[in-house]
Amino acid sequence: MNSDLNVSFELDGKTVEVQAGETLLAACRKTCTEVPTLCHDDRLDPYGGCRMCLVELEGAPRPVPACKTTAAKGMKVTSQSPMLERVRRTMAEMLMTEHTSGNGVQVDGLEECAKELGVGAMPIKFENPRTWEDRNRFLAFDPGACILCDRCVRYCDEVMQCTALEHVGQGSEAFIQPTDGASFLDTSCELCGGCISTCPTGALYEKQATAPIAETEATRSVCTFCGVGCVLDIHTKDGKVVKISSEEGSGPNDGHLCNKGRFAWQFIHHKDRLTHPLVRNAQGELEETTWEIAYSRVVEGLSAVKKKYGADSIGFLASSRCTNEDVYALQKLARSAVGTNNVHSCAAT
Ligand code: SF4
Ligand code: SF4
Ligand code: SF4
Ligand code: FES
Repeated sequence: MNSDLNVSFELDGKTVEVQAGETLLAACRKTCTEVPTLCHDDRLDPYGGCRMCLVELEGAPRPVPACKTTAAKGMKVTSQSPMLERVRRTMAEMLMTEHTSGNGVQVDGLEECAKELGVGAMPIKFENPRTWEDRNRFLAFDPGACILCDRCVRYCDEVMQCTALEHVGQGSEAFIQPTDGASFLDTSCELCGGCISTCPTGALYEKQATAPIAETEATRSVCTFCGVGCVLDIHTKDGKVVKISSEEGSGPNDGHLCNKGRFAWQFIHHKDRLTHPLVRNAQGELEETTWEIAYSRVVEGLSAVKKKYGADSIGFLASSRCTNEDVYALQKLARSAVGTNNVHSCAAT
């Protein structure tokens, strides 16, 4: 690290050094200092809307948001004090009072935050008259759980550049909706679900998720829909997939997924899914068979074509959903067993 680019300042009585341009929140995280956040997402520009991350800065008239304050040489910052705890608790209480706690299928950041601060769930239910039914199959919204942190709107603008969500109005009249109050299907929304992934309260949630995420077992894997190789977590309950997510900071995708990676998993348990090989019988109808019989029919067919028209009359195309090992085995089959170089993968184009 080039020390010219570093700044050093005092955090909770200790001297810390961060890179120029880094925020106080980044410094707190580097030193393992717990500061609660709600409107912050490392993948988005600093916002400073929720005030949960307030810290004391010597010389400043009031606490400043750590997520939006850039560290500067000589600062003296206090991240934990009875006053800060009181302010954070008050902010959490205000949010908990105004909003219900979400739908239960997403980690509920607001409740987590309130728990950390020792604030119990508030019994008051915020009756938001704006119901937000949408005819799309994937995204749902619970307005009562929305704390108007704008993470969803900012994610859509900054990451997806879709501007399919908007924050309308101000103060107690403010609300979130798809742009112009249209259905997502009539906006530029790509149904990536990123707004769901960044929502800290579960106000935006998946229509098709069937179990609270805390009750699921997550298995890290790689999306097979295309060659980008996004890292994802497959959530299962009772041996069945119930949700796909991706953790921020993981893989080349940093927690982002497209609509196929995030939402296209129902085929796994679909009743129409083929689970046995099929071959045509004498009447030309498809019927279930064993892999041995299916393979021998393939060998018979390819051998007959090769004998009549030569090996180069045969070509092999691998799906982009195959693994590298699958593709390797396919080219081996083409070159060594059949004797042709006519082999390609659609992931290569
Ligand atoms: S699903 Fe993606 S594109 Fe659609 S509103 Fe959410 S972030 Fe924007
Ligand atoms: S829907 Fe979620 S992410 Fe969007 S403003 Fe409300 S709480 Fe924040
Ligand atoms: S999530 Fe989308 S972009 Fe990523 S590997 Fe899967 S299909 Fe490709
Ligand atoms: S997390 Fe810093 S103001 Fe919201």
